[in-house]
Amino acid sequence: MVPEHDDSSGMPVIAPSSGGVRVDRVVTSGTFELDGGSWEVDNNVWVVGDDKECVIIDAAHDGRTIVKSIDLERRVVAVISTHAHNDHINAVGEVCDGTRAPAYLHPADRMLWDELYPVTPDHELADGQVITVGDVDLHVIHTPGHTPGSCCLYAPALDVVFTGDTLFNGGPGATGRSYSDFPTIVESIRDRLLTLPDETVVLTGHGDSTVIGAEAPHLQEWIDRGH
Ligand SMILES: [Fe+2]
Repeated sequence: MVPEHDDSSGMPVIAPSSGGVRVDRVVTSGTFELDGGSWEVDNNVWVVGDDKECVIIDAAHDGRTIVKSIDLERRVVAVISTHAHNDHINAVGEVCDGTRAPAYLHPADRMLWDELYPVTPDHELADGQVITVGDVDLHVIHTPGHTPGSCCLYAPALDVVFTGDTLFNGGPGATGRSYSDFPTIVESIRDRLLTLPDETVVLTGHGDSTVIGAEAPHLQEWIDRGH
């Protein structure tokens, strides 16, 4: 079942697990800039955790709004970037400063990170790594293609995968610009994401959510159309 998207209700996008871990969404707006172009974008910022602690996935555009959305009682365990396009990392500095949380990024995206930040991320993401928040494990899946260091985060206990810009409702993320590669993203999606259980909810970096079982039948269409 595709989850509700009505953020105005104040209800979590994913209801609490047995241990109280829920998923909330904050939508922020700004620009994505690459290869000399600039585009207006809305980004999904995901907050995963219980009343005591949480992780923030993709601190985009508006650090103040993101920090304000989190109860002061909650310790921020990690600020994780699914990839280092500027629209997904441009509020990491502000959010880490505001919450004293460490930043996580896959090292293959450092060339993009380094365009924005003079300091290195606190921790490297790696395929197979597990980041735990409350009673939920987030498994790092390296899914290159949109960028070389793109990663997804799979939470089996919640039946959720956070896909950044690798898989959207309707197909793969863009691969037309620098550092992207279409055959590579297809391989990542086919081998690492469409192999997850059909009912897994896909929470994306932009736009609507979907489920693995709704996207899987369309793989060949995407390959045929080339994006
Ligand atoms: Fe991106």
